[in-house]
Amino acid sequence: MKSLRALSDPTRLRIIALLEREELSVNELQEITRMGQSRISTHLGLLQEAGLLQSRRDGKRSFYKLQPDADGITLEFIQLAIRGAKELAEHKADQVNLKRILARRNEQAQVYFNQVAGRFDRSYGPGRSWQAFGHLLLRILPPLVVADLGSGEGLLSELLARRAKKVIAVDNSEKMVTFGASKAKKNGLKNLEFRLGDLENPPVEPHSIDLAVLSQALHHAQEPAKALQSVHKILKPGGQIMILDLAKHNFERAHELYGDRWLGFAESDLHNWLEAAGFKKVEINVVAREEQPPHFETVLASAEK
Ligand SMILES: C[S@@+](CC[C@H](N)C(=O)[O-])C[C@H]1O[C@@H](n2cnc3c(N)ncnc32)[C@H](O)[C@@H]1O
Repeated sequence: MKSLRALSDPTRLRIIALLEREELSVNELQEITRMGQSRISTHLGLLQEAGLLQSRRDGKRSFYKLQPDADGITLEFIQLAIRGAKELAEHKADQVNLKRILARRNEQAQVYFNQVAGRFDRSYGPGRSWQAFGHLLLRILPPLVVADLGSGEGLLSELLARRAKKVIAVDNSEKMVTFGASKAKKNGLKNLEFRLGDLENPPVEPHSIDLAVLSQALHHAQEPAKALQSVHKILKPGGQIMILDLAKHNFERAHELYGDRWLGFAESDLHNWLEAAGFKKVEINVVAREEQPPHFETVLASAEK
């Protein structure tokens, strides 16, 4: 009886016919049918009560669609309503307006992306972050044994530990190691171990590491070339080294501001030191440049034992 009563009104037949293919918001239904909000809402309420429609909220907007689980008599009622709506005088105009509203919906999304194309990579987008990209890229990694040398409190180590078999984070600052270890424990990362030590002679077994990472750490070493020789020793045959560091710069204040020993490195120096340490397949690229002065550039150097 409820369904029959719900279908005994031409406006409600129109609404059902409009929802045949697409979910629509109350505003969109208003615009298509040229009816006031309270009238539309009353009709929608009755149809929903009869089990013919389903609604969902998205922020302040309500969307309606035909009952997706409709079967048996409910499905027959819906089909009857759609057939009946075609006999109404408003049907043609409703369909034209529906098409227009749906086209505008698509355009609205496209207008935004057309506007930001060309600078989208540098602009804010909700949910887009390098951290999220990092997690995505990590899924591609096989489960490796990793050494993060000059790890600090473990920003990168923690990320790697979510995928790696084991991560050994080495730092010569007692406070960094204590803080990093307690954070790893709090985050339940049992495969992340912090060790106090020098990256020029890391407390790591020879030939035990698949991947050694030095992120903004090598410019703190007294003798970077010697540090790379030590890394070569701890790697398994075929193991990889990855260095993220600053390209050579002349921002002298980095010594006092950041405790840096070296003002970045020339790509040719990194190349020579890696080869001298016995590494093969050396690849070096500038991967980032800061927009603010002094425009620090980040170099990524990788090589294989
Ligand atoms: C700029 S932070 C980089 C931290 C981390 N790798 C990152 O990218 O977030 C440099 C870290 O290297 C550590 N460090 C400096 N000299 C070191 C050395 N000779 N051996 C081991 N760690 C060192 C510092 O204590 C500091 O935590």
